[in-house]
Amino acid sequence: MKLFVYHTPELTPSPCTADCAIAIDVLRATTTIATALGVGAEAVQVFSDLNRLMQTSAEWDPAKRLRAGERGGSKVEGCDFGNSPLDCTPQLMQGRRLFISTTNGTRALQKIEQCPTVLAAALINRHAVVNYLVETQPETVWITGAGWEGSFALEDTVCAGAIAVGLMEKLGCTLDELAGNDELVGAVSLYQQWKDNLLGLFHLASHGQRLLRLECHADLQYCSALDTLDVLPIQREVGVLVNQSTLVAPVAARSVVSAQSA
Ligand code: MLT
Repeated sequence: MKLFVYHTPELTPSPCTADCAIAIDVLRATTTIATALGVGAEAVQVFSDLNRLMQTSAEWDPAKRLRAGERGGSKVEGCDFGNSPLDCTPQLMQGRRLFISTTNGTRALQKIEQCPTVLAAALINRHAVVNYLVETQPETVWITGAGWEGSFALEDTVCAGAIAVGLMEKLGCTLDELAGNDELVGAVSLYQQWKDNLLGLFHLASHGQRLLRLECHADLQYCSALDTLDVLPIQREVGVLVNQSTLVAPVAARSVVSAQSA
């Protein structure tokens, strides 16, 4: 297995030629997606464009949908939520579809949506992502960080490093064997330096500081916890993520979707 890290959607090559691609937006979109699926959301449907989110979700039964919209860290008017994982309670989410658009995270997912397997990773579900990769052994894995409006983000890179370290431990391989590019080596070093103080790193991160100014301290704390959630968000059809445990067989699910749209 070779692992490649791209710090932003803009730096991720097109088309996606990896066997498996992973989007990371630790603060906060992929943390929110994993949490929503963990408390029983039927699926999470992602949009980079807010108007498209509004149009598509309008066709859905209002009792079965929730809309989450975030720009610049704040909630978008007309949506039920912003992008806080702490809003994802079982009472609200269970059996509902979450339609979500965020500044960078949903763009990262859109960038890799044509890849045969698409996952959403955060620190909280790092372990589930590592286990999936160990079980399925894709030859080439790309990790796309959401970054912030085209720039590098510490929190996404440290999560990429945490995934790589988890893989090296489970597979018993070396960094040299796993690394597909220099960015991966940098991500591992960052994780090794900060693994015992991830919240401290988030306080240094520019988006961490933005969220602190918005009084989202509890969000930072929640997002910086490692391996707390056994949930694997996996793309079932373009733009729609489900928890892998709800998929009996990914291939069978894909053929049902194509049969429905035929
Ligand atoms: C994003 O997509 O940039 C984020 O998830 C922003 C946030 O809500 O913290």
